[in-house]
Amino acid sequence: MRRGSGCAPHPENRGPDVIRLQESIDSPRSPQDCFRFAADFRNLPDWDPTTVRARKLTPGALGVGSEFDLLVAFGPQRLPLRYRVVEFQPPHRVLLHGEGERLQLVDEIRFEPLASGTRVIYTSDLTLKSVGRLTEQALKPAVSLNSRRAMAGLRRALAAAEAAPAPSAWRNLLDRAVLPGAAQFTAYGYRSAHLRPVVDRLDGKTVVLTGATSGIGHAAALWLARLGARLVLVGRDAGKLADTKADIVADCGNIDLAVQRADLSLIGETRALARRLLQTEARIDVLVNNAGALFPRRELSGEGLERSFALNLLSPYVLTEALLPGLAPGGRIINVSSGGMYLQPLLVDDLNYTQGRYSGSRAYARAKRGLVALSLDWAERLRPRGIAVHAMHPGWVDTPGVAAALPAFHRAMRPFLRTPEYGADTIVWLAAAAEAAACSGNFWLDRQPHLTDILPGTTVHRKTRLRLRQVLEDAAKSDNS
Ligand SMILES: NC(=O)c1ccc[n+]([C@@H]2O[C@H](COP(=O)([O-])OP(=O)(O)OC[C@H]3O[C@@H](n4cnc5c(N)ncnc54)[C@H](OP(=O)(O)O)[C@@H]3O)[C@@H](O)[C@H]2O)c1
Repeated sequence: MRRGSGCAPHPENRGPDVIRLQESIDSPRSPQDCFRFAADFRNLPDWDPTTVRARKLTPGALGVGSEFDLLVAFGPQRLPLRYRVVEFQPPHRVLLHGEGERLQLVDEIRFEPLASGTRVIYTSDLTLKSVGRLTEQALKPAVSLNSRRAMAGLRRALAAAEAAPAPSAWRNLLDRAVLPGAAQFTAYGYRSAHLRPVVDRLDGKTVVLTGATSGIGHAAALWLARLGARLVLVGRDAGKLADTKADIVADCGNIDLAVQRADLSLIGETRALARRLLQTEARIDVLVNNAGALFPRRELSGEGLERSFALNLLSPYVLTEALLPGLAPGGRIINVSSGGMYLQPLLVDDLNYTQGRYSGSRAYARAKRGLVALSLDWAERLRPRGIAVHAMHPGWVDTPGVAAALPAFHRAMRPFLRTPEYGADTIVWLAAAAEAAACSGNFWLDRQPHLTDILPGTTVHRKTRLRLRQVLEDAAKSDNS
């Protein structure tokens, strides 16, 4: 980190009681990318260790007048702070005024292009209210230390992309040790991964996201929109789609956004959706097969298919296969599976679950295992086209879906469950991060590749994968369309 960069003075006149902090860092990223990340104070908890919480208060796109509500740690105290953007000149400069009960701040961030990258210069003028000069001088070292830590965090956030992690023997061991392995699925597991924020942008890219109206999909939709994606939200309920769209517009302003209604437990509707998408979308860069559900009782769809199989396996198969011609080179397919699949084999000859006593969790786990097997198959087939295919597991996430399908689990595990944002993190990373383009065919949890089978008899061999495709092709004809 460079300090005292010798840049032009801060625009505000400052009085004798003002503590000035100035730090700068160099990033290999473009001024646009640095600006979009650092000027958005919702991202502060990702890089400033003293910011406990940050929320945007004003609706719409970021700009002059946008306000943020922060909670900042100051020693043992938690201080609420309200920030307001007063000047907004992308990608050069942003000026914000912060006001709290005990302090006042004027923060300027400047972004100067370098031969390759950007210099980010942060100047903060801090006034402590109702504090004597002596106390102010005593506090100065602590304030300076916080500022240096924040800039170290910003430098880490804006660093170059690292190679995606490779499979590791230690992680494999943890996966095999079922109980400590499952601890990774909790909120603790996510937090202990210490992941860098996703800074790579999706401007100009089209992302089709199923199951966008609730839980993990809803969180992913908001996040992908902030990264600049053109979004196509797929849901089965027109009202919920309209609400989700309104949430995104409130968060990001009037961005390019489309909605498509389809009941994905019906193969006819899935096919019709694919046909519409091929007509309306000039190219699709990312397809996220996220819609899914666990059905506690065995139910048949209107097309006579067991619903868990239809929604969690056959529908993503049909949608993906039908959209392959529209997927752009360099495109990505992300299939949201589940850690539950570790417990079940794939029964290719009984995908409709006609044999044995029905269990919703078993049916769900078998379908999700099938989805992981398909992902590997697509990864191999689509590699020559430069399309990356990923399966992922979001961990145990507190969502309406889990509360409805597994009420006892939800009640008992609630304190340990992840937020939908934690669950969405790996989806967003796989969709946007440069490094995720080069590692097709893995099963991810918290951006790390994991084993797909840990119990004897659950491995899906290549021959079974090929047969799975054939059986799905036959089953997909059930809708007669
Ligand atoms: N939460 C977890 O702990 C967890 C763990 C492992 C895997 N997952 C997987 O993560 C994904 C998201 O689940 P979630 O926990 O966020 O559940 P959720 O809150 O219930 O969200 C599921 C989404 O899928 C949509 N959906 C369900 N049935 C549909 C259908 N027939 N047609 C179209 N859309 C349909 C839902 O639409 P509505 O809004 O209309 O209901 C909703 O948007 C699922 O694939 C799930 O299996 C979740």
